[in-house]
Amino acid sequence: MEQRDLKEDDISLESVSSAIQAFGKERKNLIPILQMIQQELAYIPAEAIQRVAQHLDIAPCEVYGVATFYNQFRFNPPGKHPIKVCLGTACHVKGSEIILENFERKLGILDGETTPDKEFSIERVACVGCCALAPVALVDENLHGHMAPSKVEGLILGFKIEKEKEQREKGGHES
Ligand code: FES
Repeated sequence: MEQRDLKEDDISLESVSSAIQAFGKERKNLIPILQMIQQELAYIPAEAIQRVAQHLDIAPCEVYGVATFYNQFRFNPPGKHPIKVCLGTACHVKGSEIILENFERKLGILDGETTPDKEFSIERVACVGCCALAPVALVDENLHGHMAPSKVEGLILGFKIEKEKEQREKGGHES
């Protein structure tokens, strides 16, 4: 399974590499290239940074520096259940930083990271347009308003119970 994933990753990286060639070698193409990679792969792998640097003939750390300057880019693959915490003004005022910290603590990862089992990823986002429900989080693209630490706890627990149930059912079918 792991091997198959790797192969699939290689294939997408190769297709992204050929797409990079379609861009001119001027530095002004750096952001459009990064946007294209993120759109294709949903994140920017370290290997892709190397390839962009080669194409534009600049240092990889320069590509990385520009990419990290903009919040729109992520450097880890999104988890199966992506968690987005709104840190727009209304949510910030209502304590969304605390909600973000709660998710981080519960899952043992930081904003922008993915759990080792690839189940969850956390990312901060700008206003999602539902300020009346602040603080807001999106989990699997479902909106959760009036977030509170106890809701964070409940959501993660819900996923754990669901996963255990799935595993039990799988085990039951195999035996
Ligand atoms: S600031 Fe969070 S929804 Fe608008």
